Amino acid sequence: MIIEPRMRGFICLTAHPKGCEQNVKNQIEYVKSKGKIDGAKKVLVIGASTGFGLASRITSAFGSDAATIGVFFEKPPVEGKTASPGWYNSAAFENEAKKAGLYAKSINGDAFSNEVKQQTIDMIKADLGQVDLVIYSLASPVRMHPVTGVLHRSSLKPIGGTFTNKTVDFHTGVVSQISIEPANQEDIDNTVVVMGGEDWTMWMDALKNAGVLANGATTVAYSYIGPEVTEPVYRKGTIGRAKDHLEATAFSITDSLASINGKAYVSVNKALVTQASSAIPVIPLYISLLYKTMKAEGIHEGCIEQMQRLYSQRLFNGSEVPTDDKGRIRIDDWEMRTDIQDKIAKLWQDATTENLSEIGDLPGYKQDFLNLFGFGFEGVDYNADTNEMVNVPSIS
Ligand code: NAI
Ligand code: NA
Repeated sequence: MIIEPRMRGFICLTAHPKGCEQNVKNQIEYVKSKGKIDGAKKVLVIGASTGFGLASRITSAFGSDAATIGVFFEKPPVEGKTASPGWYNSAAFENEAKKAGLYAKSINGDAFSNEVKQQTIDMIKADLGQVDLVIYSLASPVRMHPVTGVLHRSSLKPIGGTFTNKTVDFHTGVVSQISIEPANQEDIDNTVVVMGGEDWTMWMDALKNAGVLANGATTVAYSYIGPEVTEPVYRKGTIGRAKDHLEATAFSITDSLASINGKAYVSVNKALVTQASSAIPVIPLYISLLYKTMKAEGIHEGCIEQMQRLYSQRLFNGSEVPTDDKGRIRIDDWEMRTDIQDKIAKLWQDATTENLSEIGDLPGYKQDFLNLFGFGFEGVDYNADTNEMVNVPSIS
């Protein structure tokens, strides 16, 4: 069938298998072009199908020749209906890994469940014995708690008062004021349950107790800080409480991995267009100003550039892992540069519907958003009859 983008607000209902494949191939080429990284050889990536997790998996495989197991929650295709992009990304990744002679298998299911954890442990035992790196890159609006059976929903709300600021509808370019009502305690608690560190701890406990973590194993989860303008809805909002919890969890996991000389890190990454970040009010306007400013300075990065730099210059740089005063790896260093942030703060004051096309990078935002679903890639014939049924035996 001819597959076209069908946008519905913050999501696209279709995905293009050839475009997703092109996206993965481009990321592989980028990692290869940067040379080998003396990194982990057996890697588990939880949240491996899109965004930072996919880029991490690609960097491990094609930067360090690593065997990878990927866990994700994606929709396979059915006759006449495309898969979710992460499915096609993973299918393409597995094909490319196999061509390169690299072990790659995936588990498609709910990573918050005990069953998927056990399935992963069984796969590691059967195929790899142990893993030496665990990337934790889940982004989800809901979590079914494996002990209580309660379905928790996260929210993106300020805490303590209504937050009013500018936002942009990135489809139309219309800049408007948005007011978001404050969270109650239940909203905060639920968001921490979904996006905080409890599930990361459960994963690391399960892996350690099963004996599938190698001596010296490292685990990394991803966080975000960002600028003052987004603080009320991000870092000082409900999601920020979850990130505080996630960051604190790195210390408790490090303690519990002492017996195997393991270590847990949080890496603070740059703001990027992903399915997760597009749904957060105010952030798309910030990202469009950020992209424009960083591109002008020649320091713009996407997920793959970020993860390649995380691996080569932080995690596996041949010496100690550099961290900030709170023990966090900072790969948001270029985003947070004073000169960059000063420029954005000024642009933020000025931004209107009329001038955004000039002062912000809305086309860059839209392009990245389309790319998430496999659209807008050079070298892909979007008018061609395309088979939506891409099946991969190594995804179970
Ligand atoms: P994403 O939406 O691109 O990826 C999420 C991944 O989690 C996908 O592989 C998805 O299949 C998987 N997933 C979701 N629910 C699942 C479930 N129940 N079971 C198994 N897999 C599941 O998100 P993105 O943006 O790459 O986020 C990853 C991490 O990076 C998050 O912790 C996020 O907060 C963080 N981060 C994101 C930034 C951004 O600007 N996008 C900036 C800094 C940090
Ligand atoms: Na991810």
